[in-house]
Amino acid sequence: MPSEMPSIALSQPVPVSWTSDKESMAFETASTRWPRIVQDMADDVRAAAGSAGASGAARDEAKSVASAIEAIKEEIVKDAKLTPITDDGAPDIDAYNAELAAVGNVSWLNCPWLFGECCLYRRVRSVLARSTHWTTHDVFKQQKDSTFAKSKVAVEELAGRYMQLMGSGDANRASDEARKLLFVEMTEIALWGNATDLSLLTKLSLEEIQKLQGKKAIEASQRNIVDNDVDQLWDYLESVRDDAGQIDIVLDNAGFEFFTDVIYAAFLLDSHIARKVVLHVKDFGWFVSDVIPADVDSLFEHLRSKEIFSARKDLDPLVKKLEHFFASGRIEVVQNLFWTTPHPFQRMATLAPELFARLQRSKLVVFKGDLNYRKLTGDGLWPHTTPFQEVLLGLGKGSGVKVLALRTNKADVCVGLPSESKVRELENEAPGVWTRNGKYAVISFNDGQ
Ligand code: F6P
Ligand code: MG
Repeated sequence: MPSEMPSIALSQPVPVSWTSDKESMAFETASTRWPRIVQDMADDVRAAAGSAGASGAARDEAKSVASAIEAIKEEIVKDAKLTPITDDGAPDIDAYNAELAAVGNVSWLNCPWLFGECCLYRRVRSVLARSTHWTTHDVFKQQKDSTFAKSKVAVEELAGRYMQLMGSGDANRASDEARKLLFVEMTEIALWGNATDLSLLTKLSLEEIQKLQGKKAIEASQRNIVDNDVDQLWDYLESVRDDAGQIDIVLDNAGFEFFTDVIYAAFLLDSHIARKVVLHVKDFGWFVSDVIPADVDSLFEHLRSKEIFSARKDLDPLVKKLEHFFASGRIEVVQNLFWTTPHPFQRMATLAPELFARLQRSKLVVFKGDLNYRKLTGDGLWPHTTPFQEVLLGLGKGSGVKVLALRTNKADVCVGLPSESKVRELENEAPGVWTRNGKYAVISFNDGQ
């Protein structure tokens, strides 16, 4: 990081979320959830060491690896000072340690939430990376896999829904209004996949959609989307309809959400909105469930499994279609170190210019989930009515990046609300929790012009 750069917290025009604010989601997460999450990681290493595949040397080393992870938990519980991350040879260490120097004297329960939380996952990575036998071990794999298996019913339902709507190719011959309704539904599936809660969705047949009978039902499903730019998004996509182009999706969680994202990618390709979809994954275990490269293979292993999914009528043709998209390169998976730095995305142009230039060329960049939203907004405590474009700073007006955030609200930040009266309405309806409990969401779009 250039030394003249101010700390992340100071680079926002508004205060950011701090773990010391007792009323905040930041405090709740840091004081209650972090210790549990870190303990689970240590336990996972011990359990993996006890499994049949582990060698004697790996078993021995697991003891020190698990203890080093547990030591991080102790630091959090005792509210110790944040200390520099031990060099493990990766080039992002400087970004962390320079930021720590810029932030100054902070502790786990008194630090900018976004920075502290990224440090936590990077600290664990450093422990694993410096080991001999555990460098590639994913401490979250068991958890991700078992959660996906529990989403069986939703996976089967969504596979059926996709084949029903898109399997015949009729959808592309629908009227403009019906095409829009279909797009809205598919976008909402990807959105609520972030909450693993698809109960708000409609169940209209393609025929009903084509007759536009479902308009009301779709509108009703949108009441919990507190900033909804889907109309502007569709208008933008229609305005560039002749250029199929590339769409990028900066992924969030593995398992069911990832499945909904791959379905969304397939929809964008099948409906000729994109000619190629690029999926951005993380380099290592990140915020528990984020997709890493190995999760792509895991998804397909699960989808092919007859033990997990015995009803194959829709899944078999769907899996074949998806496999083809990946094999032909129409869906591509890429990594970039920037995604696991603590930096807000507002700094991308300066700190990751190649990635920024790549995203500028994209027809649309979809940022999935809560953490990506926190990084888009700098985790700032912006007034809720601040326009989305304004909080994006370097990724907003004039950036040329077409940003779409699909996020269910699980933090303190939330912007883009249409009015103060809407904010008051939400405060009455879900006091103190509408930005946090995952039941509300945003579809926020900015065209970067
Ligand atoms: O529960 C809080 C939290 O861990 C946040 O720190 C983070 O923003 C979010 O959950 C992760 O959610 P998502 O997977 O949607 O990014
Ligand atoms: Mg996540």
